[in-house]
Amino acid sequence: MFITFEGGEGSGKTTIIERIATHFKNSYKVIISREPGGSFIAESIRDLVLDPKHIGMAYQTEALLYAASRAQHLDDILIPSMDTHDLVLCDRYIDSSFAYQGLARGLGLEYIEKINDYALQHLPLKTFYIDVSPEVGLSRIKDRQKFDRLDQEKMSFHHLVRQAYLTIADVYKDRIIVVDGHQSIDDISKQIINDIERQLHDSK
Ligand code: TYD
Repeated sequence: MFITFEGGEGSGKTTIIERIATHFKNSYKVIISREPGGSFIAESIRDLVLDPKHIGMAYQTEALLYAASRAQHLDDILIPSMDTHDLVLCDRYIDSSFAYQGLARGLGLEYIEKINDYALQHLPLKTFYIDVSPEVGLSRIKDRQKFDRLDQEKMSFHHLVRQAYLTIADVYKDRIIVVDGHQSIDDISKQIINDIERQLHDSK
């Protein structure tokens, strides 16, 4: 079962994914990966796209690099893991490109679909979008030592990203589950664990 997690900056999704993996790993074979990156070549593309020095990167270049990283990650990790693991959990996937590049940057969802046709052939069964206001999300990460190129965007951009996610969640309502990210990490994790358990039960 391929499951992805989405959210704006400081949504807590990385901690939540770890909790979920810990919960399931006694009974199931579980792997966690992330985008951009997740494999050797894909991580090199991640460094390129998130480098704060690349301030002038064209939006198309950005979208293509995320798509390139995703194609590599699919071949290296995601597709092989779908055969060898019960749960493949990924921190961000194509919905990040829909939200950030497609809607917030304004490239359009059709363009993102076109350059991500490979990923569209491997859509997750479920996607959990952890919805948090940018004010709360950014205040949670303010003590971080390192800020990447996208963390440094203006507040208005983070608001656009949140609106974009809510729009995409509506377009893909059968796949994307919106979770209130203002709850405690414990409550959010429990809610998602219950949902995944239900999916695992139904798929038996
Ligand atoms: P990361 O440090 O992984 O962010 P987070 O901890 O918030 O998940 O950085 C990934 C950044 O890249 C994040 O700002 C979202 C952005 N991104 C896109 O814009 N498009 C994409 O397709 C993906 C996968 C990520």
